[in-house]
Amino acid sequence: MASPTSQDGKIALLRAAFKACDVSNTGRLSFDEFFALLKKGNPRFEEPQAQDLFEKADEDMSGEVDFDEFVEYIFNNKTLDRVFKLEASASEEEAKQCLMNKPGPIRAAASKSVKDAGGDWRAMTWKERLEVAKDLEKEASEDSVARTKGAPTVDATSSSAARRPDRNKPKNLQTVAPSPKSAKREKPVAAVAERRQEAKTVAAAVGGGGMASLLGAKPGGLAGSVNKFAIADMSQTALVDYSLQEEDLDFAGNNADIKSDLAAFKDYLKTADSPLSRLNIIKFIAKGTAGWVFLCEDKTTGARCAMKLIRMTQARSGIKEWYCSKVLTSDAVSNVVFTDETVQVVQRSSATDVIKDQIAKARPVNYFMAMIQELMPWGTLEDLAKEGELSPEIMFECLEDVAKTLAVMHANGLQHRDVKPENIMLQMNDQDEVLAAKLCDFGSAQVGTEAASMQDDIRRFGVTLFSVATGEGWTKNRLIREKHDALVARLTTAVQDSSDPSLQRLPKVLEQILSGSMTMAQVATVMEELDSAYDD
Ligand SMILES: Nc1ncnc2c1ncn2[C@@H]1O[C@H](COP(=O)(O)OP(=O)(O)O)[C@@H](O)[C@H]1O
Ligand SMILES: [Mg+2]
Repeated sequence: MASPTSQDGKIALLRAAFKACDVSNTGRLSFDEFFALLKKGNPRFEEPQAQDLFEKADEDMSGEVDFDEFVEYIFNNKTLDRVFKLEASASEEEAKQCLMNKPGPIRAAASKSVKDAGGDWRAMTWKERLEVAKDLEKEASEDSVARTKGAPTVDATSSSAARRPDRNKPKNLQTVAPSPKSAKREKPVAAVAERRQEAKTVAAAVGGGGMASLLGAKPGGLAGSVNKFAIADMSQTALVDYSLQEEDLDFAGNNADIKSDLAAFKDYLKTADSPLSRLNIIKFIAKGTAGWVFLCEDKTTGARCAMKLIRMTQARSGIKEWYCSKVLTSDAVSNVVFTDETVQVVQRSSATDVIKDQIAKARPVNYFMAMIQELMPWGTLEDLAKEGELSPEIMFECLEDVAKTLAVMHANGLQHRDVKPENIMLQMNDQDEVLAAKLCDFGSAQVGTEAASMQDDIRRFGVTLFSVATGEGWTKNRLIREKHDALVARLTTAVQDSSDPSLQRLPKVLEQILSGSMTMAQVATVMEELDSAYDD
């Protein structure tokens, strides 16, 4: 048997202490069990301190601490701390930060569902882990709302490599106590000395007799790992390099010309200057998934425009927006919210107060891509549908515009991949009449012509049609995950009292679109027919 003072002996004793606390016998400690373990050593151990330790020991963010994590934490070997470690790519770093902000019970349910499905949570990328957590979170909130129809199906757009969580597994996440970790995210990272002290505190707490020496191991240094706040210290050049790596330009496929275009753009960004010398920022307009949009005015001409700011660590979405806009401009498409070819960079320290207010939460990033666009102050198709102001006439016009734009994109080898009512902006005249519907937000776009990936846009267009025709909210009802039959059935009910031939045709058209048998060009032709038939 190993001596109690050897490393193996210590681990064996620690395993015994761990097992004794693992009342649920899962091989992992929930926060309550972890807290009980600490209290065993020291009955006066305080909960907030325990929460802090729990958070740090939960290396893989599974919402529970398993034995390996616990040993890692106590003996602090290798590149231990996810909080300190900067991921190699900006997208992984962001996924990790985002996962960290999810409540513990959600993470615990996510890691469990992966394990139950035979997967390996730790072997997954942060993006994959986040995806599972997001799915479960949505299901949890969904289950708490009384649903009338339609079981959600798997989202075909998901890039998760993990198997889908078993819907029946984590029963009701609302009944799980709130995570001890959820409320305390934005605290500064503990310094190494502080960490050492914490490790000692754990040791003292769980200690008592032999345990004290057992757990008295000093944490190893954090040499070699990069502090995540390194992002704050990066120069514009370094941040652009970090944010736009090889894989971030993969959306262009293998086309060498496009790749060299993107590489030149990336180089340009490293020294691009600020638009704030020529623009007054008047007010904040809206926040999307990636960026903040501001109303601006040219200092000399007084012309108004919109400025979309996205943090540099999301430059991979900005570069898509820039690239798509460039291609579509040269193709003379009109119903697109274009981005100026000249993209600039705003530095946090030189931003105006209106901007600073918005980007305060984007720390530690200090540089932002600024894209100038035509101002579209009339809102989105989603807004209009929500306000109940969408007449069938306007609806058909808008759907025709969008279908035609998507058809041109597809003909140019571009896929939008985020078609939804919120990403369709309206253009109106002084009488508030809708003149056009313009597609915006190319931040998820992809270059390529495979029929299968084009189908994603076509399906999303179909679901957009459903959403605006029935008034069912996109996000609230999670339409994109619904079974196609259910959507067609609900649309049939929604139009059954109408005598208009175009409206009557809609369910059949939706069924055809969702069946995957049409190209975008064919959809555009049908939408044109419906629109002109309605006008007649
Ligand atoms: N050119 C513009 N003019 C006015 N408002 C805009 C403009 N572009 C976007 N918006 C508003 O900002 C929101 C977010 O913009 P979007 O381009 O979709 O960014 P994200 O990628 O962050 O979703 C839109 O849904 C819309 O309400
Ligand atoms: Mg958007």
